[in-house]
Amino acid sequence: MSYEFAWLNYKNKIADGFGDCLKKVALVGFDTSDRTDASILASAADEIKRASSDIFGKEALITASTNSGTDGISIVFDKTLNMTDGAYCINTRKNSVTIKAASSRGVLYGVFRTITLVRTGKLGENVEIKESPASSIRMLNHWDNPDGSIERGYSGRSFFFKNNHLYTDDRTREYARLVASVGINSVAINNVNVNDIATGLVSGYDRNELIDIAKIFGDYGIKLYISLNFASPMSLGATDTADPLDGDVAAWWKKTADDLYKDIPQLGGFLVKADSEGRPGPFSYGRTHADGANMLARALAPHGGLLIWRCFVYNCQQDWRDQSVDRARACYDNFIGLDGEFDDNVILQIKNGPMDFQVREPVSPLFGGLCKTNMMIEFQIAQEYTGQQKDVCYLIPMFKQILEFKTYNGSGDGIIRDIVTKNGKNGCCGMVAVSNTGDDPNWTGHDLAAANLYGFGRLAFDPDVTAEEIADEWSRITFGVDDLVSGSVKQILMMSWPAYEKYTSPLGIGWMISPGHHYGPDVEGYEFSPWGTYHRSDRNGLGVERGKTGTRMIDQYNEPVRSFYENLETCPDELVLFFHRLNYDYVLKSGKTVIEHIYDSHFEGAEDVEKMIGIWSSLQDRIDADRFERTKKRLEGQLKNACEWRDRINTYYFRHTGVPDKLGRKIY
Ligand code: GCU
Repeated sequence: MSYEFAWLNYKNKIADGFGDCLKKVALVGFDTSDRTDASILASAADEIKRASSDIFGKEALITASTNSGTDGISIVFDKTLNMTDGAYCINTRKNSVTIKAASSRGVLYGVFRTITLVRTGKLGENVEIKESPASSIRMLNHWDNPDGSIERGYSGRSFFFKNNHLYTDDRTREYARLVASVGINSVAINNVNVNDIATGLVSGYDRNELIDIAKIFGDYGIKLYISLNFASPMSLGATDTADPLDGDVAAWWKKTADDLYKDIPQLGGFLVKADSEGRPGPFSYGRTHADGANMLARALAPHGGLLIWRCFVYNCQQDWRDQSVDRARACYDNFIGLDGEFDDNVILQIKNGPMDFQVREPVSPLFGGLCKTNMMIEFQIAQEYTGQQKDVCYLIPMFKQILEFKTYNGSGDGIIRDIVTKNGKNGCCGMVAVSNTGDDPNWTGHDLAAANLYGFGRLAFDPDVTAEEIADEWSRITFGVDDLVSGSVKQILMMSWPAYEKYTSPLGIGWMISPGHHYGPDVEGYEFSPWGTYHRSDRNGLGVERGKTGTRMIDQYNEPVRSFYENLETCPDELVLFFHRLNYDYVLKSGKTVIEHIYDSHFEGAEDVEKMIGIWSSLQDRIDADRFERTKKRLEGQLKNACEWRDRINTYYFRHTGVPDKLGRKIY
């Protein structure tokens, strides 16, 4: 399927300013004998060529040089500079720009950044910009299946798999280019639920294609990761057990890793979902997750590979009648006792919240609990529960809040941002997002959903950049420089997460989503199911009590967070129903009762979508007709969805409580 260039469409209108510097390029120190570096440097040089010919209609004059030029752009690769992997420095003089880096990745990122700054008019005379990636692992997880379907994919089919095979085409390179442009350096291409053919990916299935993908990724400084099936040796008939302490099992994995690294020396490692939602894992053999992870990590260690182990482990066969079990506790309960038992090349991948990518969740308490374990935070930009790229929901403000959260882990504040960017052994920490791309021409289905992909990469590289800055920059390079467009797009994006939160489930309680596919409302859809996702609404109130009189999940947080959430005086409204069971007439900090809040927020949420449509409509003549129309259609669909949510939720609670709306608005 054809594709567009998303924010890398250099034909979009750029700002006046330093653009001319792209016409003349000196490459300094590019004549390296290291093949990995050489291929990344070639991509960087190619990028400058593309930018210059798309912007000026003429290829840049490119020379290999030994020193920086006095005009144009000089790109200096110098391993002796004191800079970390991926770091770069951009300096400007009157007519010249110099990009310097000690790593080829740094050169590539510096080039991409310079092009963005030129396009947005942010590169003036005499500026010095020094940036180094905050997280050493900046990763995307694709949930792509060999048959080409994508688990929770909302933008077409896979561009890695077709008809049970891996394949590469132009788009593979365009993908690598797109995500490398925002600093992504690690990508797992297959679904964490590894079934059937996908099991063989580690042990030879489609090996040549795997090598091709790894090479293309390598050209853009990206390491390939493979999601594995914990029971692979058994499923493939090599052993009769998958017990991690069994010698044959460990030997099988060792040989499998050795063979893989022979073919793909730059392989990043493995990603594992074990003992979760029906996937096999060490529990079946009475072993711990540390036993399972370490066995795999030891197969990777001689090759410098990393083992990423997901903590999304909970009982999905729960009895809704049994109120003593609380899914929100599971992640912490399953892993806290293993702190310090994981090998140095194991990283635990922890979802941002204790449940599952809801529109609002508290931070997973596990981040505040583990002190001797490498951790990465897992976000989901695929919007499974936040509108599925049909509704606009810009998630970067949510990620920012989460990253700023203080866990009080250890002796200091234990800010999530620091835990995932600084605290890993040998740089084993970082941020990962479940990807939102597919083979739709615009990559993300909804044009505005690309802001989440762009934003996640920017944030993983630099968590200090604000959600507004990201929205503004993304809009300028996506739609071309036009203050009115970027101002309006930013406004829509910044309204969108709060709007989505308002018209869906209230006050942090989550769920109420249609079961299975997870789009649209179904208030009791998960209420009597085995998934552990209950709101327990009755005629008096709603919510699961997670404090001292309930499941005590709140005790998993460190002080003072624990008291902050336990105490209704301090527990913030937006999470109050996550932590506490309340009656409908309970008065929130906003001064409204719970039932008033439910009605008001649902009316407001739908109104916000109407406002977004109004703002977008005002851009009709300023955005190309294709993107204007397809986005408008999505926004109109979103309004329908928002009204459906509003009416179902309001009607459900009106029928339960009999409390009329003070403002007499229409409730059914
Ligand atoms: C969610 C999602 C599943 C996915 C799982 C996971 O529950 O609905 O499709 O497999 O998360 O993160 O593993």
